[in-house]
Amino acid sequence: MSRSAHPAGPRHADVLPEGHWTAPPADLNALDAKVWSRTVDRAEDGVVSVGGIEVARLAEEFGTPAYFLDEDDFRARCRAWRDAFGTEADVFYAGKAFLSRAIVRWLQEEGLNLDVCSAGELTTALAAGMPAERIAYHGNNKSPEEIERAVEAGVGRIVLDSFQEIVRVAHTAERLGKRQRVQIRVTVGVEAHTHEFIATAHEDQKFGIALAGGQAAEAVRRALKLDGLELIGIHSHIGSQIFDMAGFEVSARRVVQLLAEVRDEHGVELPEIDLGGGLGIAYTSDDDPREPHEIAKALSEIVTRECESAGLATPRISVEPGRAIVGPTAFTLYRVGTVKPLEGLRTYVSVDGGMSDNIRTALYDAEYTVALVSRRSDAEPMLVRVVGKHCESGDIVVKDAFLPADLAPGDLIAVPATGAYCRSMASNYNHALRPPVVAVKDGEARVIVRRETEEDLLRLDVG
Ligand code: LLP
Repeated sequence: MSRSAHPAGPRHADVLPEGHWTAPPADLNALDAKVWSRTVDRAEDGVVSVGGIEVARLAEEFGTPAYFLDEDDFRARCRAWRDAFGTEADVFYAGKAFLSRAIVRWLQEEGLNLDVCSAGELTTALAAGMPAERIAYHGNNKSPEEIERAVEAGVGRIVLDSFQEIVRVAHTAERLGKRQRVQIRVTVGVEAHTHEFIATAHEDQKFGIALAGGQAAEAVRRALKLDGLELIGIHSHIGSQIFDMAGFEVSARRVVQLLAEVRDEHGVELPEIDLGGGLGIAYTSDDDPREPHEIAKALSEIVTRECESAGLATPRISVEPGRAIVGPTAFTLYRVGTVKPLEGLRTYVSVDGGMSDNIRTALYDAEYTVALVSRRSDAEPMLVRVVGKHCESGDIVVKDAFLPADLAPGDLIAVPATGAYCRSMASNYNHALRPPVVAVKDGEARVIVRRETEEDLLRLDVG
Protein backbone atom coordinates (compact mmCIF):
# COMPACT_ATOMS: atom_id res chain seq x y z
CA MET A 1 0.00 0.00 0.00
CA SER A 2 1.43 3.38 -0.95
CA ARG A 3 1.81 5.90 1.82
CA SER A 4 1.19 9.35 0.52
CA ALA A 5 1.72 12.33 2.77
CA HIS A 6 -1.54 14.01 3.75
CA PRO A 7 -2.32 17.66 3.22
CA ALA A 8 -0.95 19.54 6.20
CA GLY A 9 -3.33 18.84 9.08
CA PRO A 10 -3.26 20.37 12.54
CA ARG A 11 -0.13 18.93 14.06
CA HIS A 12 1.41 21.34 16.49
CA ALA A 13 0.27 22.06 20.00
CA ASP A 14 -0.19 25.78 19.30
CA VAL A 15 -2.77 25.18 16.56
CA LEU A 16 -4.65 22.30 18.15
CA PRO A 17 -8.33 22.63 19.03
CA GLU A 18 -9.52 22.09 22.58
CA GLY A 19 -9.73 18.51 23.73
CA HIS A 20 -8.70 15.96 26.28
CA TRP A 21 -5.20 15.56 24.89
CA THR A 22 -2.18 17.05 26.55
CA ALA A 23 0.95 17.15 24.42
CA PRO A 24 1.82 14.55 21.82
CA PRO A 25 3.87 11.74 23.37
CA ALA A 26 7.61 12.03 22.87
CA ASP A 27 7.73 8.76 20.92
CA LEU A 28 4.64 7.53 19.12
CA ASN A 29 6.21 4.10 18.70
CA ALA A 30 6.57 3.55 22.45
CA LEU A 31 3.89 1.39 24.05
CA ASP A 32 3.10 2.37 27.63
CA ALA A 33 3.09 -0.84 29.69
CA LYS A 34 0.38 0.67 31.86
CA VAL A 35 -2.25 0.41 29.13
CA TRP A 36 -1.06 -2.60 27.11
CA SER A 37 -1.28 -6.19 28.31
CA ARG A 38 1.89 -7.82 29.47
CA THR A 39 2.97 -9.80 26.41
CA VAL A 40 2.43 -6.93 23.97
CA ASP A 41 5.71 -5.96 22.40
CA ARG A 42 6.99 -3.88 19.50
CA ALA A 43 9.84 -5.57 17.64
CA GLU A 44 12.89 -3.83 16.14
CA ASP A 45 11.13 -3.67 12.77
CA GLY A 46 8.23 -1.86 14.42
CA VAL A 47 5.60 -4.57 14.18
CA VAL A 48 3.63 -5.17 17.37
CA SER A 49 2.91 -8.66 18.66
CA VAL A 50 0.90 -10.18 21.48
CA GLY A 51 1.59 -13.60 22.97
CA GLY A 52 4.42 -13.88 20.45
CA ILE A 53 2.20 -13.40 17.37
CA GLU A 54 2.44 -10.38 15.09
CA VAL A 55 -0.69 -8.33 14.60
CA ALA A 56 -0.50 -8.58 10.81
CA ARG A 57 -0.75 -12.37 11.09
CA LEU A 58 -3.61 -12.08 13.56
CA ALA A 59 -5.46 -9.69 11.25
CA GLU A 60 -4.96 -12.01 8.33
CA GLU A 61 -6.14 -15.07 10.17
CA PHE A 62 -9.01 -13.62 12.21
CA GLY A 63 -9.93 -10.43 10.35
CA THR A 64 -10.65 -7.02 11.81
CA PRO A 65 -12.10 -5.63 13.92
CA ALA A 66 -11.28 -8.22 16.56
CA TYR A 67 -10.47 -8.31 20.24
CA PHE A 68 -7.20 -10.05 21.14
CA LEU A 69 -7.04 -11.24 24.71
CA ASP A 70 -3.72 -11.98 26.37
CA GLU A 71 -4.38 -15.19 28.29
CA ASP A 72 -1.19 -15.02 30.37
CA ASP A 73 -2.11 -11.52 31.45
CA PHE A 74 -5.64 -12.57 32.37
CA ARG A 75 -4.39 -15.48 34.45
CA ALA A 76 -1.70 -13.39 36.11
CA ARG A 77 -4.28 -10.78 37.11
CA CYS A 78 -6.55 -13.49 38.55
CA ARG A 79 -3.63 -14.83 40.60
CA ALA A 80 -2.66 -11.34 41.76
CA TRP A 81 -6.19 -10.78 43.09
CA ARG A 82 -6.45 -14.23 44.64
CA ASP A 83 -3.02 -13.99 46.31
CA ALA A 84 -3.67 -10.45 47.52
CA PHE A 85 -6.86 -11.48 49.29
CA GLY A 86 -5.50 -14.86 50.44
CA THR A 87 -7.59 -17.47 52.14
CA GLU A 88 -9.30 -14.94 54.40
CA ALA A 89 -11.35 -13.43 51.59
CA ASP A 90 -13.07 -14.38 48.35
CA VAL A 91 -12.66 -12.87 44.90
CA PHE A 92 -15.68 -13.05 42.61
CA TYR A 93 -14.89 -12.06 39.01
CA ALA A 94 -17.75 -9.89 37.69
CA GLY A 95 -18.83 -11.70 34.53
CA LYS A 96 -20.64 -8.68 33.10
CA ALA A 97 -17.23 -7.22 32.16
CA PHE A 98 -16.71 -10.12 29.75
CA LEU A 99 -17.79 -13.72 30.01
CA SER A 100 -17.24 -16.82 27.91
CA ARG A 101 -16.71 -20.48 28.66
CA ALA A 102 -12.94 -20.18 28.32
CA ILE A 103 -12.96 -17.32 30.83
CA VAL A 104 -14.98 -19.45 33.27
CA ARG A 105 -12.46 -22.30 32.96
CA TRP A 106 -9.51 -19.98 33.54
CA LEU A 107 -11.24 -18.52 36.60
CA GLN A 108 -11.70 -21.98 38.03
CA GLU A 109 -8.12 -22.96 37.32
CA GLU A 110 -6.88 -19.78 38.98
CA GLY A 111 -9.10 -20.20 42.05
CA LEU A 112 -11.60 -17.38 41.55
CA ASN A 113 -15.37 -17.35 42.05
CA LEU A 114 -17.87 -15.76 39.70
CA ASP A 115 -20.52 -13.06 39.96
CA VAL A 116 -23.34 -13.34 37.39
CA CYS A 117 -26.31 -11.07 36.88
CA SER A 118 -28.56 -12.82 34.38
CA ALA A 119 -29.78 -16.24 33.36
CA GLY A 120 -27.51 -16.01 30.31
CA GLU A 121 -24.43 -15.48 32.45
CA LEU A 122 -25.51 -18.28 34.80
CA THR A 123 -25.97 -20.64 31.85
CA THR A 124 -22.50 -19.80 30.53
CA ALA A 125 -20.95 -20.34 33.95
CA LEU A 126 -22.65 -23.69 34.52
CA ALA A 127 -21.99 -24.83 30.95
CA ALA A 128 -18.28 -24.35 31.54
CA GLY A 129 -18.42 -26.33 34.75
CA MET A 130 -18.21 -23.62 37.40
CA PRO A 131 -19.50 -25.22 40.62
CA ALA A 132 -22.77 -23.48 41.53
CA GLU A 133 -21.66 -22.83 45.08
CA ARG A 134 -18.89 -20.59 43.72
CA ILE A 135 -21.42 -18.38 41.92
CA ALA A 136 -23.04 -15.20 43.27
CA TYR A 137 -26.25 -14.08 41.56
CA HIS A 138 -26.97 -10.34 41.21
CA GLY A 139 -29.50 -8.06 39.58
CA ASN A 140 -32.08 -5.48 40.54
CA ASN A 141 -34.99 -7.23 38.87
CA LYS A 142 -34.39 -10.96 38.68
CA SER A 143 -37.33 -12.64 37.00
CA PRO A 144 -39.19 -15.46 38.80
CA GLU A 145 -37.64 -17.88 36.28
CA GLU A 146 -34.15 -16.56 36.98
CA ILE A 147 -34.65 -16.88 40.72
CA GLU A 148 -35.91 -20.41 40.31
CA ARG A 149 -32.96 -21.41 38.15
CA ALA A 150 -30.46 -19.88 40.54
CA VAL A 151 -31.99 -21.55 43.59
CA GLU A 152 -32.38 -24.86 41.80
CA ALA A 153 -28.79 -24.78 40.57
CA GLY A 154 -27.66 -24.17 44.16
CA VAL A 155 -25.78 -20.89 43.67
CA GLY A 156 -23.62 -19.94 46.63
CA ARG A 157 -25.48 -16.71 47.20
CA ILE A 158 -28.20 -14.54 45.78
CA VAL A 159 -27.75 -10.84 46.40
CA LEU A 160 -31.16 -9.41 47.29
CA ASP A 161 -31.89 -6.01 45.85
CA SER A 162 -35.43 -5.05 46.95
CA PHE A 163 -38.14 -5.85 49.49
CA GLN A 164 -40.13 -7.71 46.84
CA GLU A 165 -37.15 -9.88 46.03
CA ILE A 166 -36.63 -10.88 49.67
CA VAL A 167 -40.08 -12.48 49.56
CA ARG A 168 -39.71 -13.89 46.05
CA VAL A 169 -36.45 -15.68 46.77
CA ALA A 170 -37.71 -16.95 50.14
CA HIS A 171 -40.88 -18.38 48.59
CA THR A 172 -39.02 -19.99 45.72
CA ALA A 173 -36.53 -21.60 48.07
CA GLU A 174 -39.28 -22.88 50.36
CA ARG A 175 -41.20 -24.29 47.42
CA LEU A 176 -38.08 -26.12 46.27
CA GLY A 177 -37.41 -27.35 49.80
CA LYS A 178 -34.21 -25.35 50.08
CA ARG A 179 -32.68 -22.68 52.27
CA GLN A 180 -30.96 -20.15 50.01
CA ARG A 181 -27.88 -18.28 51.19
CA VAL A 182 -28.40 -14.57 50.55
CA GLN A 183 -26.80 -11.21 51.05
CA ILE A 184 -28.68 -7.91 51.10
CA ARG A 185 -27.36 -5.20 48.81
CA VAL A 186 -27.40 -1.83 50.50
CA THR A 187 -26.80 1.66 49.18
CA VAL A 188 -24.50 3.42 51.54
CA GLY A 189 -24.99 7.00 50.31
CA VAL A 190 -21.48 7.47 48.91
CA GLU A 191 -20.94 9.67 45.87
CA ALA A 192 -18.24 7.78 43.95
CA HIS A 193 -16.10 10.00 41.75
CA THR A 194 -16.94 8.45 38.43
CA HIS A 195 -19.41 8.90 35.59
CA GLU A 196 -23.02 9.24 36.80
CA PHE A 197 -24.18 6.16 34.90
CA ILE A 198 -21.62 3.91 36.58
CA ALA A 199 -21.93 5.27 40.12
CA THR A 200 -24.18 3.06 42.22
CA ALA A 201 -24.12 3.97 45.89
CA HIS A 202 -25.79 7.37 46.06
CA GLU A 203 -29.39 7.07 47.15
CA ASP A 204 -31.19 8.32 44.04
CA GLN A 205 -30.75 5.22 41.85
CA LYS A 206 -32.19 1.82 41.12
CA PHE A 207 -29.83 -0.54 42.95
CA GLY A 208 -29.95 -1.80 46.50
CA ILE A 209 -31.80 -0.87 49.66
CA ALA A 210 -30.83 2.37 51.39
CA LEU A 211 -29.14 2.36 54.77
CA ALA A 212 -30.72 5.78 55.22
CA GLY A 213 -34.06 5.86 57.00
CA GLY A 214 -33.59 2.37 58.41
CA GLN A 215 -34.58 0.68 55.12
CA ALA A 216 -31.70 -1.79 55.13
CA ALA A 217 -32.24 -2.61 58.82
CA GLU A 218 -35.87 -3.37 57.96
CA ALA A 219 -34.76 -5.61 55.06
CA VAL A 220 -32.55 -7.56 57.48
CA ARG A 221 -35.47 -7.87 59.92
CA ARG A 222 -37.67 -9.36 57.20
CA ALA A 223 -35.00 -11.66 55.77
CA LEU A 224 -34.15 -13.09 59.18
CA LYS A 225 -37.77 -14.11 59.68
CA LEU A 226 -38.08 -16.14 56.49
CA ASP A 227 -37.34 -19.86 56.61
CA GLY A 228 -36.31 -20.02 52.96
CA LEU A 229 -33.40 -17.63 53.51
CA GLU A 230 -30.09 -17.91 55.25
CA LEU A 231 -28.87 -14.33 55.55
CA ILE A 232 -25.08 -14.50 55.39
CA GLY A 233 -24.14 -10.88 54.94
CA ILE A 234 -24.38 -7.40 53.53
CA HIS A 235 -23.30 -6.28 50.08
CA SER A 236 -22.26 -2.85 48.82
CA HIS A 237 -21.03 -1.84 45.36
CA ILE A 238 -20.30 1.86 45.04
CA GLY A 239 -19.61 2.24 41.32
CA SER A 240 -17.04 1.61 38.62
CA GLN A 241 -13.68 2.92 37.40
CA ILE A 242 -12.84 4.28 40.87
CA PHE A 243 -9.29 5.15 41.92
CA ASP A 244 -9.86 6.78 45.27
CA MET A 245 -10.15 4.34 48.19
CA ALA A 246 -12.05 6.92 50.29
CA GLY A 247 -15.42 5.77 48.93
CA PHE A 248 -14.68 2.16 49.91
CA GLU A 249 -13.65 3.34 53.35
CA VAL A 250 -16.96 5.11 53.95
CA SER A 251 -18.85 2.18 52.47
CA ALA A 252 -17.07 -0.37 54.69
CA ARG A 253 -17.64 1.78 57.76
CA ARG A 254 -21.37 2.07 57.10
CA VAL A 255 -21.78 -1.61 56.32
CA VAL A 256 -20.01 -2.52 59.57
CA GLN A 257 -22.29 -0.11 61.45
CA LEU A 258 -25.24 -2.03 60.07
CA LEU A 259 -23.67 -5.33 61.20
CA ALA A 260 -23.35 -3.86 64.69
CA GLU A 261 -27.00 -2.75 64.66
CA VAL A 262 -28.06 -6.22 63.52
CA ARG A 263 -26.07 -7.79 66.34
CA ASP A 264 -27.63 -5.40 68.87
CA GLU A 265 -31.18 -5.97 67.65
CA HIS A 266 -31.15 -9.67 66.78
CA GLY A 267 -28.15 -11.09 68.62
CA VAL A 268 -26.82 -12.31 65.26
CA GLU A 269 -23.37 -11.53 63.83
CA LEU A 270 -23.63 -11.78 60.04
CA PRO A 271 -20.47 -13.56 58.90
CA GLU A 272 -19.78 -11.91 55.51
CA ILE A 273 -19.49 -8.55 53.81
CA ASP A 274 -19.02 -7.92 50.11
CA LEU A 275 -17.56 -4.59 49.05
CA GLY A 276 -18.32 -5.02 45.35
CA GLY A 277 -16.09 -4.22 42.42
CA GLY A 278 -15.34 -0.96 40.70
CA LEU A 279 -11.56 -0.65 40.88
CA GLY A 280 -10.24 1.53 38.10
CA ILE A 281 -7.75 0.61 35.37
CA ALA A 282 -5.43 2.64 33.14
CA TYR A 283 -7.14 3.56 29.88
CA THR A 284 -4.54 6.21 29.18
CA SER A 285 -1.10 7.03 30.57
CA ASP A 286 -2.73 9.57 32.90
CA ASP A 287 -4.50 6.88 34.94
CA ASP A 288 -2.74 5.36 37.96
CA PRO A 289 -4.60 2.31 39.21
CA ARG A 290 -3.87 0.62 42.53
CA GLU A 291 -2.40 -2.86 42.65
CA PRO A 292 -4.60 -5.66 44.05
CA HIS A 293 -2.34 -6.13 47.10
CA GLU A 294 -2.71 -2.43 48.01
CA ILE A 295 -6.48 -2.67 47.60
CA ALA A 296 -6.66 -5.86 49.67
CA LYS A 297 -4.57 -4.34 52.43
CA ALA A 298 -6.58 -1.12 52.51
CA LEU A 299 -9.94 -2.93 52.58
CA SER A 300 -8.99 -5.46 55.20
CA GLU A 301 -7.47 -2.76 57.44
CA ILE A 302 -10.62 -0.66 57.21
CA VAL A 303 -12.94 -3.58 57.96
CA THR A 304 -10.77 -4.92 60.80
CA ARG A 305 -10.50 -1.48 62.41
CA GLU A 306 -14.22 -0.77 62.15
CA CYS A 307 -15.13 -4.20 63.50
CA GLU A 308 -12.75 -3.85 66.42
CA SER A 309 -14.28 -0.55 67.42
CA ALA A 310 -17.78 -2.03 67.11
CA GLY A 311 -16.76 -5.13 69.11
CA LEU A 312 -17.53 -7.46 66.22
CA ALA A 313 -15.55 -10.44 64.95
CA THR A 314 -14.13 -9.52 61.52
CA PRO A 315 -16.45 -10.93 58.86
CA ARG A 316 -15.21 -12.72 55.78
CA ILE A 317 -14.69 -10.14 53.03
CA SER A 318 -15.43 -10.62 49.36
CA VAL A 319 -14.85 -8.38 46.37
CA GLU A 320 -16.09 -8.43 42.77
CA PRO A 321 -13.56 -6.97 40.35
CA GLY A 322 -14.51 -7.23 36.69
CA ARG A 323 -12.79 -4.46 34.76
CA ALA A 324 -9.62 -4.64 36.90
CA ILE A 325 -9.10 -8.24 35.84
CA VAL A 326 -10.16 -8.40 32.19
CA GLY A 327 -10.00 -4.74 31.11
CA PRO A 328 -6.25 -4.43 30.59
CA THR A 329 -5.88 -7.89 29.02
CA ALA A 330 -7.25 -7.12 25.56
CA PHE A 331 -6.94 -4.66 22.70
CA THR A 332 -9.17 -4.12 19.72
CA LEU A 333 -7.45 -4.36 16.36
CA TYR A 334 -8.89 -2.23 13.56
CA ARG A 335 -7.92 -1.58 9.98
CA VAL A 336 -7.81 2.02 8.86
CA GLY A 337 -10.28 2.68 6.04
CA THR A 338 -10.11 6.41 5.45
CA VAL A 339 -8.00 9.29 6.71
CA LYS A 340 -9.69 12.70 6.48
CA PRO A 341 -7.79 15.78 7.60
CA LEU A 342 -10.01 18.73 8.56
CA GLU A 343 -8.00 21.88 8.25
CA GLY A 344 -7.56 23.65 11.58
CA LEU A 345 -9.41 20.93 13.48
CA ARG A 346 -8.17 17.37 13.49
CA THR A 347 -7.83 14.32 11.29
CA TYR A 348 -10.67 11.81 11.26
CA VAL A 349 -9.46 8.23 11.00
CA SER A 350 -12.27 5.82 10.13
CA VAL A 351 -11.89 2.20 11.11
CA ASP A 352 -13.82 -0.94 10.24
CA GLY A 353 -15.65 -1.13 13.62
CA GLY A 354 -16.94 1.56 15.94
CA MET A 355 -19.66 2.07 18.51
CA SER A 356 -20.94 -1.46 17.87
CA ASP A 357 -17.72 -2.91 19.36
CA ASN A 358 -16.97 -0.11 21.82
CA ILE A 359 -19.93 1.91 23.04
CA ARG A 360 -18.06 3.28 26.06
CA THR A 361 -16.76 6.43 24.40
CA ALA A 362 -20.22 7.46 23.21
CA LEU A 363 -21.95 6.38 26.42
CA TYR A 364 -19.58 7.57 29.14
CA ASP A 365 -17.24 9.95 27.37
CA ALA A 366 -14.60 7.31 28.08
CA GLU A 367 -11.02 8.00 27.11
CA TYR A 368 -8.82 5.59 25.20
CA THR A 369 -5.48 5.69 23.45
CA VAL A 370 -4.54 4.23 20.11
CA ALA A 371 -1.34 3.16 18.38
CA LEU A 372 -0.22 2.28 14.89
CA VAL A 373 0.79 -1.36 15.31
CA SER A 374 1.47 -2.81 11.87
CA ARG A 375 4.67 -0.83 11.35
CA ARG A 376 6.95 1.73 12.88
CA SER A 377 6.66 5.35 11.82
CA ASP A 378 8.89 8.28 12.53
CA ALA A 379 6.49 10.77 10.96
CA GLU A 380 5.45 13.68 13.11
CA PRO A 381 2.38 13.30 15.34
CA MET A 382 -1.03 14.38 14.11
CA LEU A 383 -4.08 14.87 16.29
CA VAL A 384 -6.71 12.33 15.35
CA ARG A 385 -10.18 11.26 16.25
CA VAL A 386 -10.73 7.57 15.61
CA VAL A 387 -14.27 7.00 14.41
CA GLY A 388 -16.26 3.99 13.34
CA LYS A 389 -18.31 3.18 10.28
CA HIS A 390 -21.77 3.65 11.78
CA CYS A 391 -24.37 6.13 10.60
CA GLU A 392 -23.98 8.44 13.53
CA SER A 393 -21.59 11.29 14.25
CA GLY A 394 -21.27 10.20 17.91
CA ASP A 395 -19.69 7.00 16.63
CA ILE A 396 -16.33 7.77 18.20
CA VAL A 397 -13.85 5.16 19.41
CA VAL A 398 -11.01 7.44 20.53
CA LYS A 399 -11.87 11.08 20.96
CA ASP A 400 -8.42 12.65 20.92
CA ALA A 401 -5.12 10.93 20.34
CA PHE A 402 -1.99 11.25 18.29
CA LEU A 403 -1.00 8.99 15.43
CA PRO A 404 1.84 9.44 12.95
CA ALA A 405 1.03 11.85 10.10
CA ASP A 406 1.81 9.23 7.45
CA LEU A 407 -1.05 7.00 8.64
CA ALA A 408 -2.73 5.49 5.61
CA PRO A 409 -5.65 3.26 4.65
CA GLY A 410 -4.69 -0.36 5.25
CA ASP A 411 -2.64 0.36 8.37
CA LEU A 412 -3.56 -1.59 11.50
CA ILE A 413 -4.23 0.41 14.61
CA ALA A 414 -5.04 -0.95 18.07
CA VAL A 415 -6.97 0.46 21.00
CA PRO A 416 -5.75 -1.02 24.30
CA ALA A 417 -7.66 -1.75 27.52
CA THR A 418 -10.82 -2.94 25.74
CA GLY A 419 -11.17 -6.25 27.59
CA ALA A 420 -14.01 -5.04 29.82
CA TYR A 421 -17.44 -3.82 28.75
CA CYS A 422 -16.62 -3.73 25.04
CA ARG A 423 -17.48 -7.18 23.69
CA SER A 424 -19.99 -7.61 26.52
CA MET A 425 -21.77 -4.39 25.49
CA ALA A 426 -21.32 -4.85 21.75
CA SER A 427 -24.36 -4.43 19.52
CA ASN A 428 -25.57 -5.21 16.03
CA TYR A 429 -26.27 -1.54 15.25
CA ASN A 430 -26.50 -1.10 11.48
CA HIS A 431 -26.44 -4.91 11.39
CA ALA A 432 -22.77 -4.89 12.24
CA LEU A 433 -21.39 -8.35 12.95
CA ARG A 434 -20.01 -8.51 16.46
CA PRO A 435 -16.25 -9.17 16.40
CA PRO A 436 -14.58 -12.29 17.72
CA VAL A 437 -12.55 -12.58 20.88
CA VAL A 438 -9.29 -14.37 20.22
CA ALA A 439 -7.17 -15.64 23.10
CA VAL A 440 -3.45 -15.46 22.46
CA LYS A 441 -0.81 -17.34 24.44
CA ASP A 442 2.71 -18.63 23.78
CA GLY A 443 2.57 -18.20 20.03
CA GLU A 444 -0.89 -19.70 19.66
CA ALA A 445 -4.14 -17.91 18.94
CA ARG A 446 -7.53 -19.45 19.54
CA VAL A 447 -11.01 -18.04 18.94
CA ILE A 448 -12.99 -18.12 22.20
CA VAL A 449 -16.00 -16.20 20.90
CA ARG A 450 -16.39 -16.40 17.14
CA ARG A 451 -17.26 -13.53 14.84
CA GLU A 452 -20.96 -13.20 14.04
CA THR A 453 -21.98 -14.00 10.52
CA GLU A 454 -24.77 -12.75 8.32
CA GLU A 455 -26.41 -16.14 8.84
CA ASP A 456 -26.50 -15.34 12.57
CA LEU A 457 -28.37 -12.13 11.78
CA LEU A 458 -30.82 -13.84 9.47
CA ARG A 459 -31.39 -16.70 11.90
CA LEU A 460 -33.04 -14.29 14.33
CA ASP A 461 -35.00 -12.57 11.60
CA VAL A 462 -37.85 -15.03 11.25
CA GLY A 463 -40.35 -12.76 9.46
N1 LLP B 1 -20.30 -6.01 41.36
C1 LLP B 1 -21.46 -5.42 41.05
C2 LLP B 1 -22.62 -5.64 41.91
C3 LLP B 1 -21.56 -4.63 39.90
O1 LLP B 1 -22.72 -4.06 39.61
C4 LLP B 1 -20.44 -4.45 39.08
C5 LLP B 1 -20.51 -3.63 37.87
C6 LLP B 1 -19.24 -5.08 39.43
C7 LLP B 1 -19.20 -5.85 40.59
C8 LLP B 1 -18.00 -4.98 38.61
O2 LLP B 1 -17.53 -3.68 38.48
P1 LLP B 1 -16.08 -3.42 37.83
O3 LLP B 1 -15.04 -3.97 38.78
O4 LLP B 1 -16.04 -4.14 36.53
O5 LLP B 1 -16.01 -1.96 37.65
N2 LLP B 1 -20.61 -0.70 31.64
C9 LLP B 1 -19.88 0.16 32.55
C10 LLP B 1 -19.65 -0.48 33.87
C11 LLP B 1 -20.91 -0.93 34.53
C12 LLP B 1 -20.61 -1.72 35.75
C13 LLP B 1 -21.82 -2.36 36.30
N3 LLP B 1 -21.59 -3.11 37.47
C14 LLP B 1 -18.56 0.56 31.89
O6 LLP B 1 -18.33 0.19 30.76
O7 LLP B 1 -17.78 1.29 32.48
